[in-house]
Amino acid sequence: MFIISDKKILCENIIKFDIIAPDIAKSRAAGQFVLVIPTKESERVPFTIMDADINKGVISIIVQVIGTTTQKLAKLNKNDCIYAVAGPLGKQTEIENYGAAVCIGGGVGTAVMYPIAKELKKIGNKIISIIGSRNADMLILEQEMRDISDEFYITTDDGSKGTKGVVLEPLMNLIKSGKKIDIVFAIGPAIMMMKVSELTKQYNIKTIVSLNSIMIDGTGMCGSCRVLIDGKPKFVCVDGPEFDGHLVDWQNLMIRQTAFKHQEKCSLDKYLETMNLK
Ligand code: NAD
Ligand code: FES
Repeated sequence: MFIISDKKILCENIIKFDIIAPDIAKSRAAGQFVLVIPTKESERVPFTIMDADINKGVISIIVQVIGTTTQKLAKLNKNDCIYAVAGPLGKQTEIENYGAAVCIGGGVGTAVMYPIAKELKKIGNKIISIIGSRNADMLILEQEMRDISDEFYITTDDGSKGTKGVVLEPLMNLIKSGKKIDIVFAIGPAIMMMKVSELTKQYNIKTIVSLNSIMIDGTGMCGSCRVLIDGKPKFVCVDGPEFDGHLVDWQNLMIRQTAFKHQEKCSLDKYLETMNLK
């Protein structure tokens, strides 16, 4: 059992949980994730470890409440127990001194971007951050990203904060202005990561993305997280989650992400009915 030491609602349907997990806090690295089973009866879901405090033995995850399992997790409060937390899983980010790194976080993807940008900054990279969300209320980790950035841009789809539009536009402006960019990290919805990768490919800028395919066991056994990288099958849980964005078969990823849409909807409807929430 894992105790929730803090719970913070960041915005509607996005929650930050601090969980007491000293062994994971000690051994995790940027880019890695945990599998969480909220209650004994629920399925497992992967969440990137957004931050960790070794002294307190605490890890932080950010949860977007979308399906049955995240609904169950959202009902847990400070001092409640999570049934199981397994990790750290996945490969760690290759943190090197690249030079100038553009770090793009789209929506909840910013929670995945933050620990990577933080580590890149620590070893001397210049961090140019672009974070985007649908509107100002849905922007997460703004201050945290600002604090580790040498240059910082915000976009919102509706223009309620920063530049109106999507994260692609500041990136395009940076490239067109001739700014030195040695690497781009882009994390968010698949469509966003695909568009960023298409753009950077034209300019031959190395681009790393973090893929969020459907996971079941998280240990390379079930095959559900399979993606095609340069035409070859890879498992996001053990070979990733980060890959070269220029080599990802995006159409294949997006089709596989929707494989259980019907079952997910049925499960959520049933859960909300049981809880009298519908
Ligand atoms: P969202 O739909 O609100 O998009 C976030 C931002 O991404 C937008 O504000 C925009 O700037 C950019 N974006 C979206 N569509 C785009 C397009 N067509 N072209 C260019 N830019 C675009 O995202 P959200 O609701 O916060 O996040 C949900 C999505 O993020 C889900 O698909 C989820 O699976 C994914 N996600 C990915 C990761 C990861 O590790 N890659 C982690 C968490 C969530
Ligand atoms: Fe089963 Fe990756 S989640 S192989």
